[in-house]
Amino acid sequence: MASESDGAARVAWIRSRMPLLARARVDFAESRPFDGLKLGMSLHIEPKTAVLLEVLAAGGAEVVATGNHGSTQDDIVAFLRDSGMTVFGRRDDSLEQHERNVRAVVDSTPDLLLDNGADLAAGVLAAGTAGTVTGGTEETTSGGLRLRGELAGAIPFPTIVINDSPLKAIGENRHGVGQSVVESVMRITNLMIPGRRFVVAGYGWCGRGIAQYLRAFGGRVAVAEIDELKAFEAALDGYRVAPLTELAEWGEFFITATGHPGVLGPDVLELLPDGAVLANAGHFPWEIDTDALRAMAHTVTEVDAAIDRFDLPDGRGIVLLAGGRMVNLAGREPKGNSLEAMDLGFLLQTLSLERVATRADTLSPGPQAVPDDIEREIARRFVASMGASR
Ligand code: NAI
Repeated sequence: MASESDGAARVAWIRSRMPLLARARVDFAESRPFDGLKLGMSLHIEPKTAVLLEVLAAGGAEVVATGNHGSTQDDIVAFLRDSGMTVFGRRDDSLEQHERNVRAVVDSTPDLLLDNGADLAAGVLAAGTAGTVTGGTEETTSGGLRLRGELAGAIPFPTIVINDSPLKAIGENRHGVGQSVVESVMRITNLMIPGRRFVVAGYGWCGRGIAQYLRAFGGRVAVAEIDELKAFEAALDGYRVAPLTELAEWGEFFITATGHPGVLGPDVLELLPDGAVLANAGHFPWEIDTDALRAMAHTVTEVDAAIDRFDLPDGRGIVLLAGGRMVNLAGREPKGNSLEAMDLGFLLQTLSLERVATRADTLSPGPQAVPDDIEREIARRFVASMGASR
């Protein structure tokens, strides 16, 4: 059973390694940009998020929050509640309960939204309360796609899409996700990377980082990418590049990072070698077609909390990590992205929310990029905090 003190100790360690947020907390305690405002959040509830919420609360925000399905850390929920925040959800919530948690945040009629996957934006539209929202931020690629796709033209308040930030793309998606996905696959499987054959699906920001860190550990890496320019870049970066159906028999590990559904579908699954290990880094748990895998299997064995083995009638066994959810956030003892990468990403969140709260008149309705002056200010602070200029 998780205790509050576990959560407090873990948050304290992480707080001590996030210097950018520490400075923002001091600044906000003085300027109080969120006084009188309620912030609704839907983002992974883990220690780093707790440090972000502390900064926003220090700036005067009343916090009402929930996590993402399957990644909520119960000791951190306990810690946040103890700090006076309203938090819905727990680790083993069903999908239905998770949806109720998101609705509870929407029903609290927040002024500001800190969103992940555009769940809250879609929620306030469905509830008819979008008109009372001052503005918000969206953390992910997938949420940005949704705001510009199915929700295009419908959002009446400014939403700063953190994922559009070049700082986040380089610092978090590439280097943060790259490191943590590789670390998670190693930790969960306890298998060797050097000399093993990896297929990375998607050579966007996350895929580039995953391929880079696999290679840094001595892995042999191939890339499957549908965008010709990114496939070209991967080839010049020295990776084998081919369609997934061609790489299926070659690979031993397959990692998806595309943000699109059914990337590892039946056409690929039927070609995989015995013992193939599948993991997903993309936001939604749909990149690996786990329903198709389940339908193909005669037996599914839960090896442990993060490993399932699917035995197929032709004698092959396929290994799925973290149920196809984000392997760096949903696996056993997940650590998520590095503290420095998240310090950077969360300062983008923090200063963007401050801009929305205090200068919404300078922003237009709907999804938009992080203002350039915020990007440059954070880049300066980050380099200074690393001592990189020394
Ligand atoms: P991105 O848009 O930079 O890259 C995605 C790439 O996948 C694109 O180059 C696209 O052409 C390619 N792609 C799409 N369908 C494909 C297919 N069927 N086969 C091969 N390639 C395909 O996006 P980014 O920033 O790399 O994000 C990828 C996913 O990772 C998103 O779902 C995002 O939300 C998620 N993400 C996960 C994090 C984590 O901690 N696990 C953190 C940040 C983002």
